[in-house]
Amino acid sequence: MLRIAVAKGRLLDSFLGLLEQAGFECGAVAQASRKLVIDVDRANLRFILAKPADVPTYVEYGAADLGVVGKDILVESDKNVAELVDLKYGLCRLVVAVPKASGISKVQELDFNSRVASKYPRTAEEFFNSRGIQVEIIPLAGSIELGPMVGLSEAIVDITETGRTLAENGLVVIETIMQSTARLVANRISLKTQREAIAALAGALERVI
Ligand code: PRP
Repeated sequence: MLRIAVAKGRLLDSFLGLLEQAGFECGAVAQASRKLVIDVDRANLRFILAKPADVPTYVEYGAADLGVVGKDILVESDKNVAELVDLKYGLCRLVVAVPKASGISKVQELDFNSRVASKYPRTAEEFFNSRGIQVEIIPLAGSIELGPMVGLSEAIVDITETGRTLAENGLVVIETIMQSTARLVANRISLKTQREAIAALAGALERVI
């Protein structure tokens, strides 16, 4: 049985839909609302329902053979896992945004040592370093858009999908750092020990994408 770490929520529904198209019927997972480990014997899959940011950790340590995680989180986590398939859903952008009222239109206009709140501190730091811009990254766990509104930071680095959260909080995008979609990743040892089962699943998913 392949163990696969996935995050609950919208991305899980998309993944279950993809699995079904690929011939792995796993509807039982959506119904088991509070369970964290769900076996689907027919598909030979064990689902491990983790927090999104923790998925690469379960896979790196071999607590899961496979994981489904956004490219944004994968880059930020910097874990040693193998990226197998771009699942092409969950499209979003990691952006730098500032209050519209600031009048700032590009990152070069940020003041020296501006504070930047983010749930992606490593990626944000690397981005500003690569541009030679000195900022102070302030790590937060969520609701990043609050940062500039309450005077915690001058800018944010966060993901945006529809753009609604930014707009409703008076923020505008001044730079796109990366685009992200969901990825199928694997533990490097499982890739060898479970080679056939992983290849069959990854191949079936690739065919329906
Ligand atoms: C994410 C992100 C934004 C929002 C963007 O938050 O951090 O807040 O979604 O979506 P939109 O562009 O469609 O409005 P998430 O739901 O992951 O919660 P969080 O704020 O706790 O990170």
